[in-house]
Amino acid sequence: MSFMFRTMYRLGFKPWDSGVTPPELKEIIEGPDARAPGKALDLGCGTGTNAIYMAQHGWEVTAIDFVPRAIAMAKAKAAAAKVAPRLIRGDVTRLDDLGVGGGYTLVFDLGCLHSIPQARRDAYAAGVTKAAAPGADFLVWGFYARPSPVINARLTKEEVEQLFSKAWEIVRVWGGEQSDRFPGRWYHLRRR
Ligand SMILES: C[S@@+](CC[C@H](N)C(=O)[O-])C[C@H]1O[C@@H](n2cnc3c(N)ncnc32)[C@H](O)[C@@H]1O
Repeated sequence: MSFMFRTMYRLGFKPWDSGVTPPELKEIIEGPDARAPGKALDLGCGTGTNAIYMAQHGWEVTAIDFVPRAIAMAKAKAAAAKVAPRLIRGDVTRLDDLGVGGGYTLVFDLGCLHSIPQARRDAYAAGVTKAAAPGADFLVWGFYARPSPVINARLTKEEVEQLFSKAWEIVRVWGGEQSDRFPGRWYHLRRR
């Protein structure tokens, strides 16, 4: 999987990299019930659009991606935006090894967990659960069905429940209506 993402970044083929922060994250950061800025963790941060956005809104951001080119691009974008999220090249299923620490009040994953191999998803869940503070928000987006045979990414609601329901309350699940362009769905979880 790492090889595939590295190749895509090398070829400049990164259709997810819209440069636009989704309204679902903006709601948490700037909406009527905006959370007080704290520590945020962006898992599979790509070129850093959302890590930079959160840093611009006063959050202390740690953002991780395993593709060196993605992290380099994120660093350049952050420097241009004059913010300094902590950008780490590493595997989000090994958060302990990366020394990310704990106390995160917001965890964000836009399109990373759904492509993590099944065998590593328990490790991902354990790491995220350990890093999050009680009451933390966790916003995840993933394909609930493979959008095409060549895209190996899928995350079902049942799997989210199985991975997280012990330590997290599932606050809301939405998306996937027929009008959506992709078979994707948002999950909002809250750390117990
Ligand atoms: C679909 S892209 C989304 C990137 C970013 N969240 C965005 O919305 O622009 C998924 C990202 O997750 C990264 N990724 C996938 N598995 C990972 C892992 N195990 N550890 C770290 N990064 C990972 C990929 O390199 C890629 O940048």
